Amino acid sequence: MSCFRAAAVAALLIPLLPIVGAQTIVVENATIPANESTIAPAVASVDAHESNSTADLFVGETLQLTDAVLANLTELELSNITLFSFQNESSSTETLSKRTIFGKCKTYPGDYFWPSELTWRLFNILLGDALIETVPYASSCYDSFENFDAAKCNFITNNWINASIYHTEDPTSVNAVLFQGSTCMPPALVPAETECSIGGYPAYSVAVRNVAQIQLAVNFARNLNLRLVIKNTGHDFSAKSVGMGALSIWTHNLKQTQFFKNYWQGSYYGPAFKLGTGVQAFEAYEAARQHGVTIVGGEGRTVGVMGGFLLGGGHSPLSSLYGMGADQVLSMEVVTADGRFVTASETSHPDLFWALRGGGGSTFGVVTSVVVKAYPKIKVTTMTYLLATGPSVTVDQFWAALRAFFDGFITYTDAGNYEYFRISKVGEGQFISDMGPWFAPGMSKAQLEELVAPLFAKFEALGVHVDPVYTEYDDYYDAWLASFPVEPFASDSIRQASRLFPKSNWQDAAKLNATFDAVKSVVEEGGYLIAFNIAAAPKGGYPDNAVNPAWRNTVLHAILASLWNVSNSEADIKAASDKLTFDWMQRWRDVSPGAGSYMSEADYIEPDFTQAFFGSKYPKLYRLKQLYDPFGVFYAHTAVGSEDWQMSEKILGNLPSQNSRLCRK
Ligand SMILES: Cc1cc2nc3c(=O)[nH]c(=O)nc-3n(C[C@H](O)[C@H](O)[C@H](O)COP(=O)(O)OP(=O)(O)OC[C@H]3O[C@@H](n4cnc5c(N)ncnc54)[C@H](O)[C@@H]3O)c2cc1C
Ligand SMILES: *[C@@H]1O[C@H](CO)[C@@H](O)[C@H](O)[C@H]1NC(C)=O
Ligand SMILES: *[C@@H]1O[C@H](CO)[C@@H](O)[C@H](O)[C@H]1NC(C)=O
Ligand SMILES: *[C@@H]1O[C@H](CO)[C@@H](O)[C@H](O)[C@H]1NC(C)=O
Ligand SMILES: *[C@@H]1O[C@H](CO)[C@@H](O)[C@H](O)[C@H]1NC(C)=O
Ligand SMILES: *[C@@H]1O[C@H](CO)[C@@H](O)[C@H](O)[C@H]1NC(C)=O
Ligand SMILES: *[C@@H]1O[C@H](CO)[C@@H](O)[C@H](O)[C@H]1NC(C)=O
Ligand SMILES: *[C@@H]1O[C@H](CO)[C@@H](O)[C@H](O)[C@H]1NC(C)=O
Ligand SMILES: *[C@@H]1O[C@H](CO)[C@@H](O)[C@H](O)[C@H]1NC(C)=O
Ligand SMILES: *[C@@H]1O[C@H](CO)[C@@H](O)[C@H](O)[C@H]1NC(C)=O
Repeated sequence: MSCFRAAAVAALLIPLLPIVGAQTIVVENATIPANESTIAPAVASVDAHESNSTADLFVGETLQLTDAVLANLTELELSNITLFSFQNESSSTETLSKRTIFGKCKTYPGDYFWPSELTWRLFNILLGDALIETVPYASSCYDSFENFDAAKCNFITNNWINASIYHTEDPTSVNAVLFQGSTCMPPALVPAETECSIGGYPAYSVAVRNVAQIQLAVNFARNLNLRLVIKNTGHDFSAKSVGMGALSIWTHNLKQTQFFKNYWQGSYYGPAFKLGTGVQAFEAYEAARQHGVTIVGGEGRTVGVMGGFLLGGGHSPLSSLYGMGADQVLSMEVVTADGRFVTASETSHPDLFWALRGGGGSTFGVVTSVVVKAYPKIKVTTMTYLLATGPSVTVDQFWAALRAFFDGFITYTDAGNYEYFRISKVGEGQFISDMGPWFAPGMSKAQLEELVAPLFAKFEALGVHVDPVYTEYDDYYDAWLASFPVEPFASDSIRQASRLFPKSNWQDAAKLNATFDAVKSVVEEGGYLIAFNIAAAPKGGYPDNAVNPAWRNTVLHAILASLWNVSNSEADIKAASDKLTFDWMQRWRDVSPGAGSYMSEADYIEPDFTQAFFGSKYPKLYRLKQLYDPFGVFYAHTAVGSEDWQMSEKILGNLPSQNSRLCRK
């Protein structure tokens, strides 16, 4: 990194183009490699004190694009440098009207205004060689990209779904591949497939390691009217980190972590972490364990807990006790749509700070780091059991036992617990539900046994016997590691949706009956249920932020999946897909009017998504979107303001395809 600063003077070399090869430039008539030490990207090292954050900037955050750097480059008569300039009300409006076909669509490969090879090369040089032209992850299985590699293909095929974590390591691969267009699946998973194409994957990505690269990418995309996406892990259920022909900012390498034993900000004084937005759950948890504290993150091992997770709310095994991931934030560093780098906190751009905590990813800016609260080390008791129909449990007993479990949802979350369970139909008249795990932070085994004694007494009264397995841990990390294996996810034969059922449904016997029946009926018809008894209104309170208010009133976050076989006819696949949104989920919506859904584990075509994902926070979020991103630089499917845009094509007749053009409505 230090070579960036040392080479600042080398910016002088830039006017001595032409660029000869992708990685060479001609300087004083000699061809030399263009890399981060020969060409200074437009980077200057900025003193941390210019930030409003009380935490020092990470090294990568001190490397910034500033007006002075741009002025230097402009002085050197490199006219193209306007491609990288910051937002300017008049010139940006002019660019947009000039570069947009009928003033509506983003610019795509093949369009007249698509940047030339040379422009991409110049961009890459300024980026310090961080630009990657997309080669789809599974392309080694095909000849289409001239990189056939049987061994690599075999590895990717074997890990595509089960070890869903590998998609994270690739600059553009995502898990919710259906919405990408399934254009480059491992052939073993799509038997008829013979070709691999780029589809809805972005055209280029930038493997960013510093703020200047992000600013260059944001400015370049805005000035050239390109579609811009941000990819962290690619785990989003709605594939919000892909887009055809887009330029992608890949934040995966922003991995720096820093612990503060005593961090002061506003009314908070206590332990905290500053974490880069590329940090994943397992890394955040390892850092917390190392310092003897606890951090609020998700259950999934590889989730980008400082990225889309936290920006969209972020539920955790600790949420019933400490609230959402977004509730833990003390400050953030952000590149906004105008290309500027700012601190968002209670005292610096407080409206932006409010919106970023729960208002969703890829909407208000590219976050580079987050300072979050840490909590003292905490003991945890977990418990697992299996409930299944069989010789000793009839279908009626099965549902009666589940109903007894549902009856206690308020009691369990009031005790700070979180239960992660699944229910599915495994054959005619055969059902299974595994509790995996019941997670009781702060409780000993004896305390949890006492809490659940009435439940198991009810089970016994119903004639249902289960064998709960309790494990006591003296640290959150150990409990989390033992409880949550890597989850499979990257099939294109699945659609999911979710509902945050209101607590009030548990305070009215008729409503609880209706709620339980709505859950039961969809499982009976083959829906796969993954659910959490969770509440996000901790006794200690929570800040005012953009988290979906439905989270504050829920005791059940339920995810429902509809699955099909890739060999089914298109009509059958469409029927399975539509059934999820318009039949099964409608039953859930009918028993929970006005409630919501979790945007990060959501139905891709959630009806009235602005209400469902943002509730009463939406009008303010929409206003702030217009203020912070007037030119529509950031777009993601179902993000704030996305209702003003549309994709030109649909999958199965109603799923906007990321493998198509994005245009203003
Ligand atoms: C196996 C698995 C387990 C999960 N477990 C949980 C869980 O326990 N709790 C929970 O709440 N959710 C969970 N999720 C859902 C998860 O929160 C979402 O998938 C979330 O979108 C992941 O964010 P990401 O940054 O990792 O992924 P990405 O798909 O890379 O990003 C998601 C969205 O955020 C944007 N984004 C990412 N980083 C930034 C940034 N730095 N600045 C601005 N925008 C950004 C992206 O553009 C995209 O729109 C799980 C998902 C999976 C696949
Ligand atoms: C580079 O080459 C051009 C054309 O051959 C020549 O006019 C110029 O003087 C050369 N510059 C240097 C610094 O050698
Ligand atoms: C960049 O090029 C210089 C000059 O050829 C070379 O010495 C250096 O090793 C290169 N650095 C990188 C990171 O490739
Ligand atoms: C501008 O260029 C000069 C060299 O001409 C250099 O000394 C200075 O550091 C540059 N300023 C910035 C902000 O990059
Ligand atoms: C904005 O751009 C216009 C036209 O390019 C220019 O004349 C003006 O000075 C710029 N304004 C600012 C504040 O940079
Ligand atoms: C710079 O801009 C000019 C005029 O717009 C164009 O002719 C030239 O090709 C551009 N150069 C690069 C490297 O993009
Ligand atoms: C993935 O896991 C499932 C269930 O454990 C197993 O049946 C399947 O064979 C695995 N697939 C691969 C490709 O490893
Ligand atoms: C610091 O905070 C002030 C007041 O909100 C704001 O005007 C300024 O832009 C902030 N600076 C940064 C770098 O965020
Ligand atoms: C709820 O369902 C149970 C069992 O079907 C029934 O006995 C009870 O009367 C119902 N309660 C209400 C208020 O509808
Ligand atoms: C897929 O096909 C298999 C084998 O034919 C069958 O057992 C399974 O139930 C089917 N799954 C779905 C979701 O249709």
